[in-house]
Amino acid sequence: MKFDKQVRRVARWLASADHILVFSGSGFSAESGVPTFRGTGGLYDDPDILRYAHRDALEEEPEEALAWIEGLRGRLTGYEPNPGHRALARICRDHACTIATQNIDGLLEDAFEDEGLSTDCIWHIHGTLKEARCLDCNEPAEVPDDYTQARCDKCGGYLRPNVVLFGEMLPEEPFARAQEAARKADVVLLLGTSGIVHPAAALPGLARSHGAKLVEINPNETELSDICDVVIRGKTGEVLPEVLEAMG
Ligand code: OAD
Ligand code: ZN
Repeated sequence: MKFDKQVRRVARWLASADHILVFSGSGFSAESGVPTFRGTGGLYDDPDILRYAHRDALEEEPEEALAWIEGLRGRLTGYEPNPGHRALARICRDHACTIATQNIDGLLEDAFEDEGLSTDCIWHIHGTLKEARCLDCNEPAEVPDDYTQARCDKCGGYLRPNVVLFGEMLPEEPFARAQEAARKADVVLLLGTSGIVHPAAALPGLARSHGAKLVEINPNETELSDICDVVIRGKTGEVLPEVLEAMG
């Protein structure tokens, strides 16, 4: 009830939008128990992240880097979608949406699949832990039980998760699709992202310059709060179900 007026306004915008862009970050999965990157208890509390979650480490010390990445995967898997993921899936069921997600945990796909929805509108601009590829020949591979033990069927190289590490570019097609959606969106939902990391964080500004309204749902101020038309200072797992309900 706390956000009643803003929620109704956002619900109206979404209901009448021809295209919605969703830009999500790690806070969107926080209520599932997944750690965020920044803040207390976040992934950046581990100083080794800068060394091992880096393209150079995979090339120069692959066994150590893959062992560290196994630990990271352990911290980011084994969770269930939260009410925010489920509400977003239902919003996207009935409206044209593109989701440009920085989340690598795969929980949004789980929520879409639970609803029987296609995940084609979800673009992983920072990759996903649900895919793997060869470090040497780049061929896609089954996600292994243990990256330190697995090798590529084609060339025998090490496998790695298909996530963007430090020192790497964003995957071309997902980012191009996200930019295309930003240019045509009427409304952008910014969900649980600090908006610090570029080029991803430029997407809301791009959408705004093409006329979109920006809505941030986040308990804390972010780098993007100032350019938003509506800011709802709440958790996505609490606010999105209210928005869905208000959409009728
Ligand atoms: P951050 O850790 O930078 O930010 C998390 C955001 O989530 C913060 O703004 C929190 O206030 C917010 N938050 C926390 N709980 C929330 C909740 N229940 N509901 C809504 N918001 C909540 O995470 P990202 O923005 O995802 O890059 O970080 C961006 C990128 O930085 C990541 O994708 C990663 C990292 O370097 C790569 O992996 C390439
Ligand atoms: Zn290979």
